[in-house]
Formats: sequence, C-alpha cells, structure tokens
Amino acid sequence: AIERTLSIIKPDATRRNLTGKINAKFEDAGLRIVAQKRIQLTMAQAGKFYEVHAERPFYGELCEFMASAPVVVQVLEGEGAIAKNREVMGATNPKDAAPGTVRADFAESVGENSVHGSDAPETAAVEIAYFFSGLELVG
Ligand code: CMP
Repeated sequence: AIERTLSIIKPDATRRNLTGKINAKFEDAGLRIVAQKRIQLTMAQAGKFYEVHAERPFYGELCEFMASAPVVVQVLEGEGAIAKNREVMGATNPKDAAPGTVRADFAESVGENSVHGSDAPETAAVEIAYFFSGLELVG
C-alpha cells in the first residue's frame, strides 16, 4: 500500500550540510518528499515528540541534542514507505547499520544518528500530525 512516514534529518546532519545527500538516498529509493521544512525545535517540543522515551536514561540528552541546531522535518510517501524508509536509514546504531544506508554513511553515534523515521502506521500518523497540517502535504 502507498504509505506516508515522518522523517527527521537531525542536528548532526544539518550541521554538516548533509540534507541534500540524505534526501538523494530517500528519492533514489523511490520515496517522494511530499512535505518538508527546516525548523529549530525547543526543548519542550523535542520532549513532547519523544514522550514515549521519557523514562529512558538517554531522554534528556536526546532532547538537548534535538534542540541543539535546526532539523529538517519531512513526510515521505511511497509503496511501503515506513519499512522502506527504515531500510534506507539503517540500524539505530551506526555500528550495526548496513553499508550504503544513511546511518552507515553519516551517523556519528547511536544518539547522533542523523535521521529519525516513524516505526509503524499509527506512530506515522501521530508524528506527521505533530509537524504538518493536511494542507502542507502535497503528493
Ligand atoms: P530515533 O529513531 O530518533 O528514536 C529514538 C532515539 O533515541 C533514537 O533514534 C536514538 O537517536 C536515540 N537513542 C537510542 N538509544 C540511545 C542511547 N543508548 N543513547 C543515546 N541516544 C539513544
């Protein structure tokens, strides 16, 4: 089925001018960028986005990192977009990421791992709605 997923290009990647190279990997895999904006998250906005991780030991560090520089939030659309995006991103820890994936090529550590992608249809819907209105999604 055609799906949409929420993707975030994280501060470690925007700092190193990697937005275009990461977008090329998404587009080469057949994912269409149907919405995209560069924003500076506050700690509170990052905290709400990652609410499900609030009890994890790395939560504070994760929120500080996500608010440390601009991010690019985007909606990717395509056949099986959620799984396809996760394939293109590679494993959370760059040490485990397959060659050619975004995280293998660009991520600096498990925390500063260049990209986020929704993990399921329900989370994709919630995460897309967190950043975008329906009118901003142009398929
Ligand atoms: P993401 O897909 O954005 O979802 C949660 C994030 O938490 C994850 O990517 C990692 O960047 C981060 N994370 C996961 N494990 C750790 C860890 N052990 N230390 C720091 N950050 C982590």
